[in-house]
Amino acid sequence: MSEESGEHVESAFEKVKVEIENRLKFVNHKVAILSNKGGVGKTTVAVNLAAAFVAFYGMDVALLDVDVHGPNVPKALGLSNVIPRVDEEKNVVYPAIVMPRLAVMSMYYMAKDDDPIVLRGPLKTSYISSVLQATDWGRRDVLIADFPPGTGDEILTFLQEVPVDGIVIVTAPDPLSELDVKKAINFSKMLEVEILGIIENMSYMRCPHCEELIEPFGESIGEEMANKVDVPFLGRLPFDPNISRSVREGKPFILNYLDSPTAKEFEKVTKKILAILTAKE
Ligand SMILES: Nc1ncnc2c1ncn2[C@@H]1O[C@H](COP(=O)(O)OP(=O)(O)OP(=O)(O)O)[C@@H](O)[C@H]1O
Ligand SMILES: [Mg+2]
Repeated sequence: MSEESGEHVESAFEKVKVEIENRLKFVNHKVAILSNKGGVGKTTVAVNLAAAFVAFYGMDVALLDVDVHGPNVPKALGLSNVIPRVDEEKNVVYPAIVMPRLAVMSMYYMAKDDDPIVLRGPLKTSYISSVLQATDWGRRDVLIADFPPGTGDEILTFLQEVPVDGIVIVTAPDPLSELDVKKAINFSKMLEVEILGIIENMSYMRCPHCEELIEPFGESIGEEMANKVDVPFLGRLPFDPNISRSVREGKPFILNYLDSPTAKEFEKVTKKILAILTAKE
């Protein structure tokens, strides 16, 4: 590559970065939800934290689904029928306002229900950049971004483009997740991104017959793990069958079960995250 074309590429990158910065100018905090292991509940935690910020603190929230191949944020939220609005002339996308104060963007809206989303590395990267460049979030207190498992193109592209407050790691209390948490922590260190804390999901459940608390994956290890690596422990969330019941009914769990013990646990976790974010201001 000649020196001149190298400079050209660099200035194009700079331009994209500035455009994204401008789009996110009025979004106060940015949080990435990550885990190396699949299926531990990142999306469930992301959507319910977003809804909890709205329901318990009256915050304006942006929820961005960066899972390009398996976008399911609108579905997990229980609200997939409200869609974003596109202004083609201005090249602007206005996110779906799925409940008052909650704005959502996801590849989910762009793909037909059963079609696989086939995008290779460079296309995926430019898709994520384009969404960040085009989405007008308006004024938001916090943006929560959900990712596929692992440390691939999606999270790398996002962290390159968006200055985040930090990463929240979601785990489940099984030994396989433990290994993956360590990887996620080393990834954050490598990229010099702060870890805001660890959430242990599906930590326990209440027996529907006798109310006894059961630990389906065995003893909780999240707090011990967080202490070992010296990051905040944000809380234990129960396995609650009403979460998938709510998804099936097309209602956001937090609103549908606002007074449930599980919603209260989400409230506690959001309170801790909020305290950490506010301390950074
Ligand atoms: N606390 C919970 N209580 C009940 N069900 C849960 C809970 N957390 C997650 N689930 C269920 O577990 C399954 C996996 O959750 P989810 O899709 O949120 O995980 P994920 O980490 O985002 O997965 P992926 O790695 O594929 O993105 C879903 O069916 C979800 O409804
Ligand atoms: Mg997910």
